[in-house]
Amino acid sequence: MRKADIQYKKIVLVCVNERQIGSTSCANKLSLDLYNKLKIKIAESDPEIRVSKTGCLGNCLSGATIAIMPDNVYLGEVKEEDIPEIISIINK
Ligand code: FES
Repeated sequence: MRKADIQYKKIVLVCVNERQIGSTSCANKLSLDLYNKLKIKIAESDPEIRVSKTGCLGNCLSGATIAIMPDNVYLGEVKEEDIPEIISIINK
């Protein structure tokens, strides 16, 4: 093992975890659509920020959940209309 070179200024992780119907998960709250739209908008604003899908971030009841690293910012109940504010938070 070795430390890897970091190729991005920040990484935005979007939980797209799926569970069976009837169980709460970010996928049930349309997080995959959020991921796709956020990826496009962030690429337009700053290509040095990576947006990646991830599994459960432990905030299932308040999803959709995203994490902004290395800022250690977690956001819950995220919706598509929050994308401009997310970009603003990333650029702080
Ligand atoms: S399913 Fe997304 S935080 Fe747990």
